Amino acid sequence: MLGRDLVAALEREGEEVLGRTHRELDLTDEAAVRAALHDCRPDVVVNCAAWTAVDDAEAHENEALGVNGHGAAHLAAACAAGPAGPVRLVHMSTDYVFAGDASRPYAEHDAVGPRTAYGRTKLAGEQAVLRLLPRSGYVVRTAWLYGAHGPNFVSTMIRLERERPAVDVVTDQRGQPTWTADVAGQIIALVRSRGVAGAGETAGIYHATSSGEATWFDLAREVFRLLGADPARVRATTSSAFPRPAPRPGYSVLGHDGWASAGIEPIGDWRLALRRALPGLLPADDPRSCTPPVQVGLTGYGR
Ligand SMILES: NC(=O)c1ccc[n+]([C@@H]2O[C@H](COP(=O)([O-])OP(=O)(O)OC[C@H]3O[C@@H](n4cnc5c(N)ncnc54)[C@H](OP(=O)(O)O)[C@@H]3O)[C@@H](O)[C@H]2O)c1
Repeated sequence: MLGRDLVAALEREGEEVLGRTHRELDLTDEAAVRAALHDCRPDVVVNCAAWTAVDDAEAHENEALGVNGHGAAHLAAACAAGPAGPVRLVHMSTDYVFAGDASRPYAEHDAVGPRTAYGRTKLAGEQAVLRLLPRSGYVVRTAWLYGAHGPNFVSTMIRLERERPAVDVVTDQRGQPTWTADVAGQIIALVRSRGVAGAGETAGIYHATSSGEATWFDLAREVFRLLGADPARVRATTSSAFPRPAPRPGYSVLGHDGWASAGIEPIGDWRLALRRALPGLLPADDPRSCTPPVQVGLTGYGR
């Protein structure tokens, strides 16, 4: 979902970009990762690949670790061995590295404490990238993603609004709904940034989520409202109505102070982003459906 929007955004920005699907490059194959880096000789690598099935990871933690932990380490090691010096690696991570029980936004360097197998494996990936690439590794944590190219909560709500008279949505999980195109914009701004003083010291941890916060219930109601449907058709419930193998965080809001060190503005309010994104998420037979006029890549600069 994120990878496809990022490749499209980079192409629109006139960058030379080589997207690699799972079939073309398996991150768990260390030799293949090394060979891909050797053949492409990239200036920057962005890792959007991951085992993202949060519930399945509970019963398959080792396989998830193979992609999210060891795969990230293979990529970081190959970047570290770049013939002209370490290649910059932007590695995508998640709010699930935190415990998710805070009462204020998590800062970039707050203590981690994953409560799920997925979170533990993603944390292993972060740690490998920061250890192997101390001056050219970027860990970009995001959360609650929606976009045009993958299953996600917003697309599900758009479908359910058509199919059902009412939907029940939880009010006891709080986070930041985030559009993949906005994350792509932050990544592009980050790799172009030379830092506030132009010193180029921008490696480290960043939080690429929308500003503001919402529950899934708030998000569903906003989708219905934007569709012109009655938001009261979204009814409040709690997580106990939807038991899942992996516990979901109650409070998973990320702080955005890290962007200032790179001279980049954080992503704006989640409601504004949703309004811009929605036309691109509607089914093709909806007369309101269109590709949103977004200038990705400029979002981080002087917005
Ligand atoms: N979605 C969210 O709400 C969310 C929240 C927080 C963080 N993130 C992070 O953001 C990043 C992008 O998420 P997303 O939602 O765009 O993910 P996604 O749509 O699930 O895409 C993940 C991609 O990784 C590929 N992949 C899986 N195993 C691989 C392997 N061994 N080698 C190479 N590719 C492999 C998958 O291919 P196949 O499908 O063919 O296996 C898929 O194309 C990930 O790092 C994720 O952890 C996402």
